[in-house]
Amino acid sequence: MDPAVAAPETAELVRAGGEHVPALMRRIEERLRSDGAAHAGPLAEHGGTTIAAGGKRLRPLLVLLAAGAPQDPDREDALVRAGAAVELIHSATLVHDDVLDAAALRRGKPTVVAQAGREMAVATGDALFARAFAALTEGGDAESVRVLSDACSSLARGELLQRADAWDVGVTLDRYLLRCELKTARLFEAACRLGPLAAGDAELRLDGFGRRIGLGFQILDDVLDVSGPVERTGKHRGTDLLDGTVTLPLILARERDPALTELDLRAVTSPAQAEELCDRISATGALDAARDHALDLVAQAKRDLDPAVLGDGRAQALALVADSVVQRYS
Ligand code: FPP
Ligand code: MG
Repeated sequence: MDPAVAAPETAELVRAGGEHVPALMRRIEERLRSDGAAHAGPLAEHGGTTIAAGGKRLRPLLVLLAAGAPQDPDREDALVRAGAAVELIHSATLVHDDVLDAAALRRGKPTVVAQAGREMAVATGDALFARAFAALTEGGDAESVRVLSDACSSLARGELLQRADAWDVGVTLDRYLLRCELKTARLFEAACRLGPLAAGDAELRLDGFGRRIGLGFQILDDVLDVSGPVERTGKHRGTDLLDGTVTLPLILARERDPALTELDLRAVTSPAQAEELCDRISATGALDAARDHALDLVAQAKRDLDPAVLGDGRAQALALVADSVVQRYS
């Protein structure tokens, strides 16, 4: 398989980015494979399988598209390091998230925690996290390190907020959106900042674009958790509900079916009960409303793209990525 187009749903976006993008994505993939397996012994094994499990590679693609075509080989190297770093952080957070959730499956495959236990999974996430910063520091750009470090702090804060809100069916919309911004959107925003920094264009700011598509991405993720289908998402419906995580579909559903405000989420303990609750949420029309919310965010994000600043090709490629975050099944 061509590593540059490992995720079929991303292949079209890679091609739309311009002639330089497939080759740079391939180099990022190679770097990810070697960084994932960089540490000796079991860390290499589990880091390697985490990277090899794939993923859409949306964040490195955003790094490249936000940057535009690099002007010289040094800039290409910097882009490869930045693209790999952001994906290594994303992979590390998922390995850690699976520990916290005691998740069995990720991307349709057994998680590190399910295969090798908590200690190994925590260490694997730590090793991937460390490699991300090692990659960025090779370039010696302190601003890029600061951007990624800030995004990681936000991820940790978002994850903690989510844990604090667990089982609370009364969680507010604003609180939910703050959680999504911290745990997901800030890393998308960082990807859109790291690209221009690596390309030597520090003036270009795509923060609002990155943040909005990140929020739209997380909302759609939360919709897919309720809607499934399992064959497309690679995980069971209602996984968030079983974890006590209240997301936009339930927040909107409880306004339409007030009896849901009385729901005791701790009493939902089996996959069958979770599926039943998913059906009840779906019956209120809340999934369509949540999807509309994500679509609005993507439409707003696209309005932030100025072809006069970015050039038509780059603006169009970024707009396609924006659309893709709300047109996906996993
Ligand atoms: C997946 O979201 C999880 C995240 C986006 C953030 C996880 C963050 C941490 C574990 C803390 C920070 C860690 C580091 C290494 C900086 P989800 O749970 O909504 O999605 P899922 O359904 O795919 O699990
Ligand atoms: Mg999770």
